[in-house]
Amino acid sequence: VVAIASADRCNNLQRIKTKMQWAKAYGTGSKRAEFGDALWNNVFNYAPGARALFSGVNSEDLSSPGFKAHIARVLGGLDRVISMLDNQATLDADLAHLKSQHDPRSIDPANFVVFRDALIGTVAGTFGVCFDVPAWVGCYNVIAQGITGDS
Ligand code: HEM
Repeated sequence: VVAIASADRCNNLQRIKTKMQWAKAYGTGSKRAEFGDALWNNVFNYAPGARALFSGVNSEDLSSPGFKAHIARVLGGLDRVISMLDNQATLDADLAHLKSQHDPRSIDPANFVVFRDALIGTVAGTFGVCFDVPAWVGCYNVIAQGITGDS
């Protein structure tokens, strides 16, 4: 999906950092809903054309029940795969499952770069100086490559 510099390989230490930083960003309760809203606002600000892909889940109204449920599914999916970053076999199985859910949608691979920037930008907003961009870029690439099948 994205060229991987040597610092961005998602090595074992980076997997643990990404897990810990995700746990903080994902949060709980109303903080989680705010995080999800911010993420999807970022996605559609960066790529207005992507909104049409989500018309089936009422993407015209991000605060509708249908889109809120979609947000919760995607955050849940991210929580699953990030939690599995230190268990490669289980991670691979879940990424294959997510791939089967995304393949029929004919998603432009560029949208995975948009989503990366939106996700990293949103998570970084919940952090101070400790936010580890290379860890996130590397580990996001592992996830996106698993879902798209690209290398
Ligand atoms: C649906 C996760 C990236 C487009 C979903 C679902 C999950 C998910 C869990 C719900 C599957 C279901 O229950 O049927 C993720 C994760 C991503 C990711 C973890 C991290 C990289 C993307 C990107 C796009 C995208 C970048 C395109 C911009 C879609 C579409 C659906 C979907 C179109 C179906 C929406 C509907 O139900 O109508 N995704 N996704 N996903 N995703 Fe993703």
